[in-house]
Amino acid sequence: MAATDPITTITHELGIDEADIARRKSFLEFTEADVALLKQLHALLEAPGSIDEFTRVFYDHLLAYPEMRALIPDEATLERLKKSQSAYFNGLTVGDYGDEYVRQRLHVGAVHQRVGLDPSGESGFHVTFSCGIASFPETPTAADFGSRADEALYEAKHAGRNRVVLK
Ligand code: HEM
Repeated sequence: MAATDPITTITHELGIDEADIARRKSFLEFTEADVALLKQLHALLEAPGSIDEFTRVFYDHLLAYPEMRALIPDEATLERLKKSQSAYFNGLTVGDYGDEYVRQRLHVGAVHQRVGLDPSGESGFHVTFSCGIASFPETPTAADFGSRADEALYEAKHAGRNRVVLK
């Protein structure tokens, strides 16, 4: 990558290198066990239509807020965004969280800052990720899967968010 690449520049400015990424993962207690859980989700997201539905629900929600709608100027941008977001969420569960992953996240952050979605600004927008998974044979009947996954999800939220709980 050229030394003038803006994301490489940000990475250098922030002092983010391989050792720093490892230090951050250790601080967050992000282990191989978390990677394995996230990879299990990939199959669910890859089910036909799953990511598209996820993205549709996300934008229906977002567009209900005028301050968010104002950042999306036209239909073409919205369609572009839905595609980038599908790829983004798909990438969350691939299981590779190395330097390229970090670079891509910084890129998305830089794009959001450019369009005026600054998390430290007035919109105060920030995202957390909580996930609950019901597993077999711990959950013996199909009828219980929904409620057990919900239970796991709320356990993840109440434990501080940004985590996966498997039941
Ligand atoms: C979970 C939260 C979000 C995720 C994962 C996400 C993801 C992304 C991604 C992957 C891109 C493409 C970056 C690129 O150009 O490579 C993007 C761009 C963008 N996002 Fe988001 N986004 C989120 C929240 C929001 C919110 C709340 C808004 C407010 C309206 C927003 C507005 C935009 C805009 C306007 C662009 C630039 C679109 C363009 O001109 O192509 N995003 N986002």
